[in-house]
Amino acid sequence: MTHRLHFPDHFTWGSATAAYQIEGAANADGRLPSIWDVFCQVPGKVRNGDTGDVADDHYHRMEGDLDLMAALGLPSYRFSVSWPRVVPGGSGPVNAAGLDFYQRLVDGLLERNITPLLTLYHWDLPQALQNDGGWTNRETVGRFVDYAEVIGRALGDRVPTITTLNEPWCSAFLGHSSGVHAPGITDNAAAITAAHHLNLAHGRAVTALRAVVPSSTQLSITLNLAQVYPATDTPADVEAASHVDAIANRIFLDPILRGAYPSDLLHTTRHITNWAFVAEGDLTDINAPIDVLGVNFYAPSRVTAATDEVRAQVTGRWVNDPSQADAGASPWPGTDLAYSVSQPGPYTGMGWPIVPESFTDLLLRVRRDYPEIPMVITENGASFDDEVTSDGEVHDADRIDYVRRHLAAVHAAIQGGADVRGYYLWSFMDNFEWAWGYSKRFGMVHVDYDSLARTPKDSALWFRDVIKNNAVEL
Ligand code: NOJ
Repeated sequence: MTHRLHFPDHFTWGSATAAYQIEGAANADGRLPSIWDVFCQVPGKVRNGDTGDVADDHYHRMEGDLDLMAALGLPSYRFSVSWPRVVPGGSGPVNAAGLDFYQRLVDGLLERNITPLLTLYHWDLPQALQNDGGWTNRETVGRFVDYAEVIGRALGDRVPTITTLNEPWCSAFLGHSSGVHAPGITDNAAAITAAHHLNLAHGRAVTALRAVVPSSTQLSITLNLAQVYPATDTPADVEAASHVDAIANRIFLDPILRGAYPSDLLHTTRHITNWAFVAEGDLTDINAPIDVLGVNFYAPSRVTAATDEVRAQVTGRWVNDPSQADAGASPWPGTDLAYSVSQPGPYTGMGWPIVPESFTDLLLRVRRDYPEIPMVITENGASFDDEVTSDGEVHDADRIDYVRRHLAAVHAAIQGGADVRGYYLWSFMDNFEWAWGYSKRFGMVHVDYDSLARTPKDSALWFRDVIKNNAVEL
């Protein structure tokens, strides 16, 4: 017998993308390179040498994509603005043609009754700013605030929710510690400095935006929170898990929502950095009130303490090769105290374990430790090796199963008291999966990278019914 789980009235349903992953048109209309354009040119950094030069060519196919969203019954769409399209040099003149694309995008969504959710920064820092140190340079904070104001002024009257940064953990730690993301730096101290500057950029942008957007606009940040479990219940592993919680989660949550860095984090990182980059007043700025927290979730982590034995196991194997990311133990980015270990399956196409109940655990944990802040799931989904079958369709039953079970996990968290207001499926369509290039497909719409044809997968039709019913059937 099927069992229907109903979501609260006014629950927001949508799907998400990001500029560099779908737009292509890398040199069109005055856009200049971002750190990802440059990183893609470095041999060995991105699978198959893929780049975002063409991607899904959404820049030129936007109207058709919006029609497809409407046909699939999407009430809301989360997209990101490309900073190097709008302010190509990172600072200085605004590129009217670049801004115009987002004006048309927002208008096109509203015409189709699709509510926009705008992300200001989804990893595509203008390369010009990277040339001066990027997120390790405090000056970048001011440049981001200026850019946020440009977008707030131009689009703030029509976009009810703006999220400042997408997954600053990835920008800071994958970008500056493991180096598997742009700008490809491997320096733990630089990663922690970048994390602080990202926090500051967020907080100051929130304050700047408040002055230029309507008072009803919801301001937010999107975090990929790690739901981290110790590999064993030994005190050393439990401590390692708590350290990872500090360097992956609380390094963002605590200053943003409580106005302070966690004292245990300052202590466990003291041999990496003296935190001298935190200036007087920064924490007050970072603590600017937000209205909602965006949560991205895919899979939990399991960690172990960094013993000599664990270190020996990975020596010589773990380098900057994304294909090794989940093979056995790997150092947790940004720290030398913890290693992540492989977990039992089943896995998605990324090799990430499928553990829906860990999503419930995470949402209830946020509710418990930061009870005031409402949440929106700004990303959840899965990559699988989808194929178009002879009937011209994509029967992605594994994705439907993943999303169904994760929606049930969100529902359980809501029943348990978590204040979750919406859910955005990652992703609307297959796209450039960063270091994995086009080898990983997360879309509910299939993209043929030769013809660029879009084909809704079974999951898109299934999700349309979930939205229509405001309920998921188990
Ligand atoms: C989170 C990121 O925000 C998004 O860009 C990425 O494609 C998904 N995770 C899947 O890895």
